[in-house]
Amino acid sequence: MLTRSGEKDRSEIRQDFISDYDGLADEWWDPRGALAPLSWIARARAEFVPFARNERAALLDIACGGGLFGPHAAAKGYRVVGVDLSEMSLREALRHGFDEVVRADVARLPFEDESFDVVTAGQCLEHVPDPYAVVAEACRVLRPGGTLIVDTIADTRMARLVSITLAENLPLPGRPPRGTHDHRLFVNRERLTRAARENGVELELLGLRPRMREMARFAAGRIDEVTMVRTKSTSVLYLGVGSKK
Ligand SMILES: C[S@@+](CC[C@H](N)C(=O)[O-])C[C@H]1O[C@@H](n2cnc3c(N)ncnc32)[C@H](O)[C@@H]1O
Repeated sequence: MLTRSGEKDRSEIRQDFISDYDGLADEWWDPRGALAPLSWIARARAEFVPFARNERAALLDIACGGGLFGPHAAAKGYRVVGVDLSEMSLREALRHGFDEVVRADVARLPFEDESFDVVTAGQCLEHVPDPYAVVAEACRVLRPGGTLIVDTIADTRMARLVSITLAENLPLPGRPPRGTHDHRLFVNRERLTRAARENGVELELLGLRPRMREMARFAAGRIDEVTMVRTKSTSVLYLGVGSKK
């Protein structure tokens, strides 16, 4: 089905992959496993999280998976809450810095308006049928003055080449299983910033990429973690950060 704007209806695209994440639960914390790059990105995301202003400050991690962001958020002084649909992943999150986890769809967050000081959505928007509605939900539960941080994959040909053709096929450690990404779900940068703006958050976008020298050393088995560096180009992996009016 096509929508009125001529785009493919994203709701038709495969959405049953949550069971894949249940099956990958043992991989979350393996530094050379299929989900390894997510931990590099979590570290980069953490740099944008301000320190908690008081001991009641709470951070919501949308689609928290196995909790890779938990230690970073806890180190900044937050009570850390996670939402995900993968039961097995949520169990892992509870073992890694999360104070509370809730099994729910990120499209309908089971929280009151303005209840979190920081909301993060890392590597999740490119897996949902309506990422712009998820951003609106994230803004709804964020308190005024609070910080929103999202990172995802751009809807560009370059992103398809890098994130699917290369990342899912080159025989390297940290390779995600084939089919992890569907390019039709990749996220339009203008629509994302508009959705945030319409819900009170002006997002600033920047790109992220792995440091190439370290990638080579990681591939050779000499190091277990790769630094993500900031780039001007947002055409592959990008991060948006902003505070709510
Ligand atoms: C690529 S992982 C990212 C996990 C985590 N944010 C991180 O960066 O390590 C995507 C996560 O989104 C979750 N997910 C996908 N669609 C979801 C939905 N509609 N509601 C809740 N969780 C969802 C999956 O279960 C999975 O844990």
